[in-house]
Amino acid sequence: MKNFLTLSLLLLSLTANASEGVKLNDADIDLGDKISLLRGAKHFVTHCLGCHSIKHMRYLRIAKDMEVDEKVILNDIAPLGAGIYDPIHSAMNKHDAEKWFGTQPPDLSLIARSRGQDWLYSYLKSYYIDPKRPFGVNNLVFQDTAMPNPFWELQGEQHAVPRKTIYGEYIELAQHEPGTLTEKEFDIMVNDLVNFLVYVGEPVQLERQQMGKYVLFFLLVFFVIGYLLKKEYWKDVH
Ligand code: HEC
Repeated sequence: MKNFLTLSLLLLSLTANASEGVKLNDADIDLGDKISLLRGAKHFVTHCLGCHSIKHMRYLRIAKDMEVDEKVILNDIAPLGAGIYDPIHSAMNKHDAEKWFGTQPPDLSLIARSRGQDWLYSYLKSYYIDPKRPFGVNNLVFQDTAMPNPFWELQGEQHAVPRKTIYGEYIELAQHEPGTLTEKEFDIMVNDLVNFLVYVGEPVQLERQQMGKYVLFFLLVFFVIGYLLKKEYWKDVH
């Protein structure tokens, strides 16, 4: 028991240290909200597909899971020229990526599982101005990331402000230049995008949720039938 406790404490401190002590914001994930997932897919294609692929997901699968016509996906979400059977594949050339970023933008098919939804949500919101970095920005959640801020225009610019409390020092991000979106609009946008990436990590979850509803429905129906039968059988006994 003692060992178990020590192990849990150790694990707790490890997870707490995962983002170097930065407090993560909670993403509001709802895989049943298909409109949010579709908006997230659109944001991905507009802002991320230039560099990142999601090779485990096809446009057709999104159409099926979201129960929308294939044409809607091709016209409103997929990039020009993409086919409905295509995987979500970035046109970024590996060689160019190495040259520009010194590393390759990873495939994001499983990113929500490996990094976690709150990490992703916080990461995308935590860029701040840092003239020492190649793209002039750094990130509080992922220090010295090679990825430029995809949302600098929409979110505006943030400054890192060191704060002191009795518990120690920490860094707070403060708005420096406003973006084209309000803070609330921007939060919803990033949340939709993370919702989509969580769905991409496990599209089966949607089916499972649907299945759960059917199972509950049948249980209810059989409960009612069972109850009526019981009443019927015991009628004569009483
Ligand atoms: C201009 C190219 C570019 C764009 C656009 C871009 N990224 Fe990146 N991204 C990168 C590069 C390069 C890295 C690798 C960073 C590193 O390892 O330091 C990266 C890393 C990441 C990581 C961290 C992966 C990991 O676990 O190490 C996530 C998450 C991510 N990107 C998500 C996104 C999302 C979501 C978008 C769209 C909103 C996006 N990126 C847009 C280039 C880009």
